Amino acid sequence: MVSKGGTTRRQFVGALAAGLGYGGLPATGLRAQGRRATQADPDDALTGPPEYQKLVKLASNENPYGPSEQVMKAMNDAWPYANRYVYPNGGIVEAIAEHHGVKADNILLGAGSAEVLKAADDAFLPDHRRVVGVEPTFESVYRYATNSKAQALAVPLREDFAVDIKEIIRVVRSNARDVGLVYLCNPNNPTGNIIHKDDIKLMLDSIPEEIPVLIDEAYYHFVDNPDYETSLKYVLQGRKVIVTRTFSKIAALAGMRLGYGIAPKEVIAQMRPVTYGNSINALVKHGGAAALKDASNQGRIRELNKQVREQTMAELRSMGYRLIPSDTNFFMVNVKRDVRSVGEEFQKKGILVGRKFPPMDEWLRVSVGSSDDMRRFITAFKEIFPPGSAG
Ligand SMILES: Cc1ncc(COP(=O)(O)O)c(C=O)c1O
Repeated sequence: MVSKGGTTRRQFVGALAAGLGYGGLPATGLRAQGRRATQADPDDALTGPPEYQKLVKLASNENPYGPSEQVMKAMNDAWPYANRYVYPNGGIVEAIAEHHGVKADNILLGAGSAEVLKAADDAFLPDHRRVVGVEPTFESVYRYATNSKAQALAVPLREDFAVDIKEIIRVVRSNARDVGLVYLCNPNNPTGNIIHKDDIKLMLDSIPEEIPVLIDEAYYHFVDNPDYETSLKYVLQGRKVIVTRTFSKIAALAGMRLGYGIAPKEVIAQMRPVTYGNSINALVKHGGAAALKDASNQGRIRELNKQVREQTMAELRSMGYRLIPSDTNFFMVNVKRDVRSVGEEFQKKGILVGRKFPPMDEWLRVSVGSSDDMRRFITAFKEIFPPGSAG
């Protein structure tokens, strides 16, 4: 059965499962789920919006609440520009600049912050340069680095799952001539914890100033922790720091693709030429500008997330499971089994959870969904892990 776009329905389901965080898993669980749902025409039950809607999506750290009314209105009002290459762009760059007290030439937009990460890789990691970061972390930089033949120097997390800043400093200093980029994700994905503000300062004070440091703040908006601060002040001080932010998480625009990097203008000038330059759609430029002004909605999302996260984590703790304290919209729980097979079991129940993040093979990453999503998650969790499984 081939859809209008040329993909078969089966391919679409596979892509859906992959896109939702199960890149490595076959989509059989989803298919089986669909077959049970409708006997008459199983394929129809597999792919359409109702099937998608039924899935509990806890694999990709998305915002379960969707964009705010103001953001959707701004995007809808931009439809008249859909057929143009040149159009009023909603002042997105100026809005970001004003929001952070920087200039337009300190900003690089991307179709998602992933595009900015890729630009940093292309600009600062020519062949055989090295990227230093922790493991596990958000993989993109390492993936891109591998593509560009740069080598990753991955520093293991400490036993308490904190970023080992002293070891990062040591590794950067002892490889200083070869290091093209330091990448830190703060808060870190997949562990969900922050890097202490004093550790960021210590690192920047301890490594050669000419080495660019990218601090990925995709989850900045969810943090409520006095030991945390944004690294934007280092950009304002002129340090070779690139801070990345995204509209995918707090603003719930993951599918619309918008993110940005902020850095000294010379650093942005090195990255800009390696981006495509025209990757962002008209609607999201307007939506992003509206989202930046929408502080009350962000506060609402932050509170809801915290409430649902703490409730879910408390329930898992009461069942005897160990969790890493989270400052984000996801958390990790030690399920004492290989996460890959656990993910498959959840998937059969229509729940998508995080993939495996080696070497934390028994730690399951769970995104915080709505309270209804988390009720379904806990029900499935109790079925997969009967009493006594916590050990
Ligand atoms: C830490 C981190 N950085 C960057 C991204 C990429 O986000 P986007 O490209 O949607 O802005 C993600 C996505 O999950 C992430 O977790």
